[in-house]
Amino acid sequence: MFDISQIEQLEKIKTPFYYYDMNLLYRSVDLMAELSARYDIMVHYAIKANVDRRILSYISSKGIGADCVSGNEVKHAVSCGFDPSKIVYAGVGKTDDEIFESMEIGIGTFNCESLQEIYVLNEMGRTYGKTINISVRINPNIDAHTHRYVTTGLYENKFGISNHEFDSLIDLLHKCRNIRCTGLHFHIGSQITRVKDVFKLECQRVNEIVEEFERRGLQVNDIDLGGGLGVDYENPDDNDIPPFEEWFRTISENIRRKPGQTVHIEPGRCLVAQCGTLLTKVLFVKRGETKNFLILDAGMNDLIRPALYGAYHKIENLSAKERPYFPENQAYDIVGPVCESSDVWGAGRFLPLSVRGDLMAIRSAGAYGQVMASRYNMKDWAQTVYSDELEKAVLKKDYFENL
Ligand code: LLP
Repeated sequence: MFDISQIEQLEKIKTPFYYYDMNLLYRSVDLMAELSARYDIMVHYAIKANVDRRILSYISSKGIGADCVSGNEVKHAVSCGFDPSKIVYAGVGKTDDEIFESMEIGIGTFNCESLQEIYVLNEMGRTYGKTINISVRINPNIDAHTHRYVTTGLYENKFGISNHEFDSLIDLLHKCRNIRCTGLHFHIGSQITRVKDVFKLECQRVNEIVEEFERRGLQVNDIDLGGGLGVDYENPDDNDIPPFEEWFRTISENIRRKPGQTVHIEPGRCLVAQCGTLLTKVLFVKRGETKNFLILDAGMNDLIRPALYGAYHKIENLSAKERPYFPENQAYDIVGPVCESSDVWGAGRFLPLSVRGDLMAIRSAGAYGQVMASRYNMKDWAQTVYSDELEKAVLKKDYFENL
């Protein structure tokens, strides 16, 4: 991923920091935009995965839309160049202010998740003399075969409207004069790796639901299938671009689309995960009773996925790559500095002999990394470094040299 000269430069930057490989980002986004045109599937990037201004500006410049889940995300998307009419806004709990501001901005669609939300939107439209475009998020009760915390399409999950409410939903839509319902929205989960099976099943279920609504007199112009395409956390170099085409092909072969219907998807993770790396240094090497600990200066405050979901991120010792000789790999429990026992990057990981000051790469950190960071333990925010602006970030003096 990095060549030796880059590692020398990276070692001079204050850690921890998020490094973004802009070439990989451009290649991923360009391919996504090309497939969107080829398969005639409208793409809305789920900005919750990464809200970096440079990343968003590039994605919007390719004509891709945005999927937002808060009023601030909507405003941020617009300020990063996304066309408001290509913004879809989901979320089970939109506040009145968020609804009002997004209505004023003139976003494409509110993806509504409850009957009460539709009612409130209609009232808001009536008060301000507007007709608001909505799509209804349906809970299709499909198992996405992924981590239970990122499964969203089962009845036990809080998202979407379930079929026991379909009658009342249709009644309500007929009554609402300030709402224009243009379609249906689905999102069944994230980090889906059984691409063909799961997305085929989603399309089949969506076909049934769309037909059911059409039978009940609703004109379904937009079919939004959500996001969820997974990435390869184990082999980020072999699979730096996720199987986009397999996803598009599976959808286009399985979704029943009538003339005038537009199919939408909302990829987040798969566009940005592999271009991001969290770079961190070894603070201390500690010999425990039964194992050795590598204590890094990045912790769960910088990237919470391992602590929250038990997620795997590949970890490499970049400094060791520069050394002329490699002793045998050692087993380490790699941990962060935060005062929580769950602040563990990986247990029993095999790495080259590692010493204080070594630069470590925590891979596939571009999605749900920086956006979920906190300042827990009053740690500083990790800074952002772009691959084409390395010199800007290099410090005059490496602070490790002074210790
Ligand atoms: N659309 C909706 C309505 C969503 O809720 C999500 C993600 C997406 C699209 C984008 O899904 P993606 O393509 O990124 O899988 N923090 C977790 C992931 C949470 C995903 C939440 N919703 C993680 O770090 O794995």
